[in-house]
Amino acid sequence: MKAEIDLMGYDEMSDPSLTAKKLFEEPRAFLYEKYDPPFYIFSRYDDVANALLDSETFIEGFGNGPNFQPALGILSDAPHHTFIRKLVQKDFLAKQINDLEPRLEAIVDDLLSRVENQAEWDIHEDLSFPLPVIIICEILGIPTDDLSKFKKWADASVANMCSEDPLEYAEDLDEMRQYLLGQVELKRGDEHSAGLLATIAQAKHEGNYLSDDECVALATQIFVAGNETTTSLISNLVWRLLSHEGLWERFCSNEINTDDAINESLRFDPPLLGLFKTTSKEVTIDEVTIPAGTKVMMHYGAANRDPSVFEAPDLFDVKRNGKKQLSFSIGLHVCLGRELAKLEARVALNALRKKFSRLKLLSDGERVGPFLFWGRSRLPVSH
Ligand code: HEM
Repeated sequence: MKAEIDLMGYDEMSDPSLTAKKLFEEPRAFLYEKYDPPFYIFSRYDDVANALLDSETFIEGFGNGPNFQPALGILSDAPHHTFIRKLVQKDFLAKQINDLEPRLEAIVDDLLSRVENQAEWDIHEDLSFPLPVIIICEILGIPTDDLSKFKKWADASVANMCSEDPLEYAEDLDEMRQYLLGQVELKRGDEHSAGLLATIAQAKHEGNYLSDDECVALATQIFVAGNETTTSLISNLVWRLLSHEGLWERFCSNEINTDDAINESLRFDPPLLGLFKTTSKEVTIDEVTIPAGTKVMMHYGAANRDPSVFEAPDLFDVKRNGKKQLSFSIGLHVCLGRELAKLEARVALNALRKKFSRLKLLSDGERVGPFLFWGRSRLPVSH
């Protein structure tokens, strides 16, 4: 008998590669009915890639989670998406991102100097969580005075994306909205203010400022998209390097290229296991007909382990060319922050190997809560 797929069950939450194996035994378009509303899942590499490249059939405009949301900010379709993407992408071009390297090195240096004399510390709490939050706040041009506040809001946003109950996280999300709204008003009132949030607040579309809802949604999307994911990339990679016998030592003696390790981590442990599109019309895949207006999960985690594309997919192999991985998506909505995320991981990993060649894992810590995300919310280490 085939094992039932249960994305939120203990086994698959602990090891999402189990979901991938089960999905490969199922039809290419698999109807998942354990969520309200039910959705389809694509798991084969070619099906996921083709759908991501077909932005007229698989649209973004109802949000990228399993629930139907109004189109806002960058989670929208052309022509609105084209305008928004153009507005924000200047800050994420390769040149702009490369210029951030010295600043990222300084942040990492500061974070690591705080734990240098501690016998035990936590990769998530002390390094991989604060780093992306600080840099995103600096890019947006908002103060980084209280990281715990941002942590609470980021947690609420990602949990909300996966929740069946839209009211569960309303209080924290409203607090975040009010804060960002205040910042938007500040930036709009001061034409000399700098940073991406000022660009957003002062932007005009067809002669009018973007609405408050639009500005706040866009700022939230950039903030949330750039934080939890990058945090998980760094923690997941450190976790694997420390848990495979001899790998950390090889990494510290420069036998392993950091970029190869980052690519393989993205393939093996995608920080987002999948995101959703909505069908704009009826689609038939291998005799399964998906009605128009249905949510379809693009399962990056499964696609990245498709044996027809990746040899021995369940092997964490830092020498593999993992560039084909789909963890940043492809197509019109390809991750805006991919160069930034990779640079943050590179700077963090290179600093760790320089300073802590005797780093040891104390335990596997804990998985992050929401089912679409894959990372460690705790990863205790010693040195
Ligand atoms: C390892 C870290 C990251 C991963 C795995 C990741 C993954 C993704 C994925 C899967 C998408 C969805 C594309 C789609 O809907 O098809 C996306 C979109 C996006 N990401 Fe990232 N991301 C990461 C880091 C970042 C960072 C650092 C930022 C910084 C701002 C960022 C900003 C965005 C934005 C704004 C979008 C929406 C793009 C659009 O719809 O045009 N991401 N990302």
